Amino acid sequence: MNPPIAILALCGSLRSGSYNRMLLQHAITLLGEGFHVTVADIAALPHYNEDLNAAPPPEALAFLEQCHGAKGVLIATPEYNHSIGGTLKNAIDWASRPDFKTPLANKPVAILGASTGPVGTARAQQALRAMLYVLGVDLVAKPEVLVGMAAGKFDAQGQFIDEMGNKFLGQLLDAFKTKLLK
Ligand code: FNR
Repeated sequence: MNPPIAILALCGSLRSGSYNRMLLQHAITLLGEGFHVTVADIAALPHYNEDLNAAPPPEALAFLEQCHGAKGVLIATPEYNHSIGGTLKNAIDWASRPDFKTPLANKPVAILGASTGPVGTARAQQALRAMLYVLGVDLVAKPEVLVGMAAGKFDAQGQFIDEMGNKFLGQLLDAFKTKLLK
């Protein structure tokens, strides 16, 4: 039997009860057998500072190691002020260095997001796509998983219960798996 495919998952929200964390967990469950998913502790990363490149702190080295070891990356982002939040941006900055040698280059990346507003992180995901383009990842272009008005789309157990959203999420994960299994 083949070893499971290593996936690194990033959640851009640190909030307890985060819709994005619930959505990410749901996506991880849907990925099913054959994948080993590690959720990165991006809150532990220090603020990115180029001065640290010479001797990156252990949290950054551990994160970069996780990036190196992953075959693909799954990202759930909230939308803060029409963009991604600072914690996720900080993680992407760490992953992009040192010396532009990002361990994420050419790796499949799938993105999703939930917000309490009507456009479901569309603006944040646009910003995220621009960053991932700079890193040269193999982005799953579509479908977009934009979970708007998120408060009504999870049940009391945190399950994602939106029919249309689940359809798009399934299609996104299928496209992600196709890239991973290439
Ligand atoms: C928000 N929120 C928000 N929502 C949105 O649709 N567009 C936006 O630009 C913003 N801006 C924003 C800024 C800040 C600082 C906060 C704290 C919140 C609301 C956001 O969608 C909501 O808090 C979500 O619940 C955040 O995601 P999690 O934490 O549930 O994963």
